[in-house]
Amino acid sequence: MLTREENELLCRVEGDAPMGRMLRRYWIPAALSTELEAGGAPRRTRLFGEDLVAFRAADGTVGVLDEHCPHRGASLVLARNENCALTCIYHGWRVAADGRVLETPAEPPEHRFADRVRAQSYPCYEDGGIVWAYLGPPGTDPPRMHFGWMSLPAEQRMFVKVRETCNWVQGLEGVIDTAHSNILHTNGIKPAAVGDATVGNDDGASLRPSADPAPRIECESTPYGFRYAAIRRPLVDADTRDYVRVSLFIAPFFAFFPNPVGWQYMQAFIPIDDEHTTFLFAQAKLDGPIDERARQARLKRAGMQIGIDLDNDYRKTRTRENNWQQDRAAMQAGDFTGIHGVNNEDIAVQESMGPLYDRTKEHLGASDTAVIRMRRIMLDGLQRFMRGAPPVGLAEPVTYETLHAEERMIPKGSAWQGELVG
Ligand code: FES
Ligand SMILES: [Fe+2]
Repeated sequence: MLTREENELLCRVEGDAPMGRMLRRYWIPAALSTELEAGGAPRRTRLFGEDLVAFRAADGTVGVLDEHCPHRGASLVLARNENCALTCIYHGWRVAADGRVLETPAEPPEHRFADRVRAQSYPCYEDGGIVWAYLGPPGTDPPRMHFGWMSLPAEQRMFVKVRETCNWVQGLEGVIDTAHSNILHTNGIKPAAVGDATVGNDDGASLRPSADPAPRIECESTPYGFRYAAIRRPLVDADTRDYVRVSLFIAPFFAFFPNPVGWQYMQAFIPIDDEHTTFLFAQAKLDGPIDERARQARLKRAGMQIGIDLDNDYRKTRTRENNWQQDRAAMQAGDFTGIHGVNNEDIAVQESMGPLYDRTKEHLGASDTAVIRMRRIMLDGLQRFMRGAPPVGLAEPVTYETLHAEERMIPKGSAWQGELVG
């Protein structure tokens, strides 16, 4: 349980909210590289309650600017993208990726607006198929988080991206809460004696070597956040072995969790504003390209196909208003949740908690150990940040490239920390 004040501190990111001030001190995924076509349509994006526009100029340069034109605020999402700048369609002001106003055709030249006015622009770069932007004070940007999967060629990566109608902490708690996976995801994660590790099907379903619904959870703080083990009884040789899944929380909102053999998975919960979140799920195939058929099969099974499950702005067809399209007849016939796709199951329960859940009302148990640790690390770190310390996870150098989640069988009762690296 959190006090009302703690809950507000943890969750709110808009305006002057302390957590929002701290989150602006990280590089933030602002768009996918594939969303921005050279010389093509600018894309609306919103972070921490600020409306932004991202675009790629014809020369390939990427820019992130305030959405609203510095003249009188028309949206630059409507702008023409030409000659390496955005041209506002209202009065023709031309704004470059770095915020310079290049031309103001409706103004007499002697007014020299172009020299006096600048649009708010944000530093950005691309890595791993993501456009990363920095919204913090100039000159305070931290080292870039280059995770190992980001070094793979683009053909070996795919993303699920979707807009959640709830606060970012609800999403983040969902990925950190490992205990729900054996229950909420009964449809997609099946127990099976498949060996010592999770095995994935081509379309993203998986088989797990344990049916234990009540893992023992142990956490260990790390420079980047913390890692935690979920220790379960395996289906095979449970008297002599423990099945351990080690997951990572990387501040402020990234999570690695054990992926099926041959894949690396990462999820991020990026605040759009206090009541909306971008769920970004990166999936990287370690041994070769993800062919188009496999990519579509994964998106279909996930219920995350654009044009079917999502619109072009990643808004879902499954919402609170239609009960996330829960199918009661399917439930009668054996489907556990009646909700299509593992990610949709997660999102449905997260959104069902309300736009910003009041954590004074909850009743936490042993299965919530890792959720509690994340909140504590973020709240304590926020207090230190407000007194002048670096943001959570940025106090010392981290080799992001080598971080990964892991699962393994270990001799029963032995320490997982020594066996596993993460
Ligand atoms: S509002 Fe953009 S040019 Fe006038
Ligand atoms: Fe889940």
